[in-house]
Amino acid sequence: MMAKTQPGRFITLEGGEGAGKSTQIAGLAKHLEAAGVGVITTREPGGAPGADTIRSLLVSGDTDRWDPMSEALLNFAARREHLIRTIWPALEQGHWVLSDRFADSTMAYQGYGHGIDRDLIDALYRAAVGDFHPDMTLVLDLPVTEGLRRASERNGTGAGAEDRYERMDVAFHERLRAGFLEIAAAEPERCVVIDASGAADDVAARIWSSVEVKFADDLSMADGTGS
Ligand code: TMP
Repeated sequence: MMAKTQPGRFITLEGGEGAGKSTQIAGLAKHLEAAGVGVITTREPGGAPGADTIRSLLVSGDTDRWDPMSEALLNFAARREHLIRTIWPALEQGHWVLSDRFADSTMAYQGYGHGIDRDLIDALYRAAVGDFHPDMTLVLDLPVTEGLRRASERNGTGAGAEDRYERMDVAFHERLRAGFLEIAAAEPERCVVIDASGAADDVAARIWSSVEVKFADDLSMADGTGS
């Protein structure tokens, strides 16, 4: 009988604007690959054809383009497509999936940021995602002004720029930063807060040491040193 493939692991990176998630996700994928793990990187909103279409509706245009509840629903619709078409099949095949944002972003941005009732967001989670949760969530934390400065250097401005959230006021960004920290404090088994200030290499080292500790058993199996 063929051995069943070990299911993969699901790791999410979260944080406010300009926290360096996309650089860090690429670095983490390289580290895991070097440790013998098959990795897929993806992002939200997006990560599947329908979800990418929804992304383009969410990340550009006027800041008040969407009612916050509509925005939460769009994110969960995109997330369900992402899960069904990309994340769950990849995990089933034994890949480790690294996602740049997942449902904590809806709780932080639409819940803490825009004031949508958090129990309603939990109910949407149960409807769209069910009983599935990331194995680990890295919350990249950075002072808001520093994050917005980094994000504006990266994104530019003008038509088509993915800067709709960046243009929201500083108080909004302060609320969602506090939200991410509260989410992490409530779920210490799943979440680790990473200081995202300073050089990218230093942040990468902080991330890798957390991941190495959390998945020590899986990683020793993957590189063939485990039993
Ligand atoms: P990105 O800039 O990290 O690619 O993410 C796109 C924007 O979408 C970002 O400003 C955060 C926002 N967002 C939400 O407001 N709610 C969500 O559920 C997700 C996944 C992203």
